[in-house]
Amino acid sequence: MFKTIEWKNNSVVMIDQRLLPSQEVYRIYTDFLDVAEAIRKMVVRGAPAIGVAAAMGIALGASDINAKDRRGFVKEFKKICKIMAATRPTAVNLFWAIERMKRVAKENPKLGVDELKQVLIQEAKKIHKEDIEINKQMGRYGSSLIKNKAAILTHCNAGALATAGYGTALGVIRAAVEQGKKIKVFADETRPFLQGSRLTAWELMKDGIDTTLITDNMAGYMMKKGLIDVVIVGADRIASNGDTANKIGSYSVAVLAKEHKIPFYVAAPISTIDLNIKHGDKIPIEERDTKEVTHIKDIAIAPAGIKVRNPAFDVTPNRLITAIITERGIARKSFEKSLKRMVKAGNIS
Ligand code: MRU
Repeated sequence: MFKTIEWKNNSVVMIDQRLLPSQEVYRIYTDFLDVAEAIRKMVVRGAPAIGVAAAMGIALGASDINAKDRRGFVKEFKKICKIMAATRPTAVNLFWAIERMKRVAKENPKLGVDELKQVLIQEAKKIHKEDIEINKQMGRYGSSLIKNKAAILTHCNAGALATAGYGTALGVIRAAVEQGKKIKVFADETRPFLQGSRLTAWELMKDGIDTTLITDNMAGYMMKKGLIDVVIVGADRIASNGDTANKIGSYSVAVLAKEHKIPFYVAAPISTIDLNIKHGDKIPIEERDTKEVTHIKDIAIAPAGIKVRNPAFDVTPNRLITAIITERGIARKSFEKSLKRMVKAGNIS
């Protein structure tokens, strides 16, 4: 089994997701600046995995700080956190993980520099471990929504590769399969970065889960033919009213699901919920390099000089979402109340 990200011998090891499915290459990072670059360049991607990478990158950077006293250490530590925060703007898990690392430093004022470095490493490892447990719990809740013989459409990759392991949307699918349900998955290829064809198809096939790859523009056809029962996607940031930012194209799938009366589920950990943002239109949307649209590998598939847009995410309004699956239960409308209760008070179901 592959490992998405791991802390090993004081370094961060990540499978290079840009090379999948043709090559399984693990990169070893010993400098936090390279971890930041790996997040930016999508060696590692997917909201929870980005959070784990940021935490490990901070732990790595902190362990290299050459400061005699705590004041000097904190000054450098803040700079490292700032660099990590500037890598990608949409997935709130990144900022959640950075805040958690900052909190650890703040809540241990008595620790000396060397001890604090160790505590930060332990915290990053804890975030990693917890993420897998969270995904399994989410899987247990979410699988209750999946009937035997269901055909599930998913978009992008919200799997083991997008998390520390097991996955969010794919975690729900894995849990249903582990319960003995016969599940068919349809994976949208997810232009332009092809997370669906390169990553989702790859990891589900490795697990022996019945998977059919389709291009994004085939989803409506499949739904109209009655071939899809349920849609499950992950999330990069969920506003307090339930509006959900996820990979570009998720909104189109949600509109199609509504038209065909198919439930549209979002599976995401509590760390993806941003109660500070009231509506989806306040979520910052990353615009990526236009070359992702005009080229496949280095081959041009569009005329040079054409105007291009490349928003990496879109926002699905809450009215198109049937339920939001988290590790603390299943939130239903009105999301405002249920999400707030989940974030602040724990389990609701
Ligand atoms: O640009 P990416 O590949 O980081 O985007 C990832 C997605 O949009 C995923 O669907 C989302 O992060 C959920 S991952 C559990």
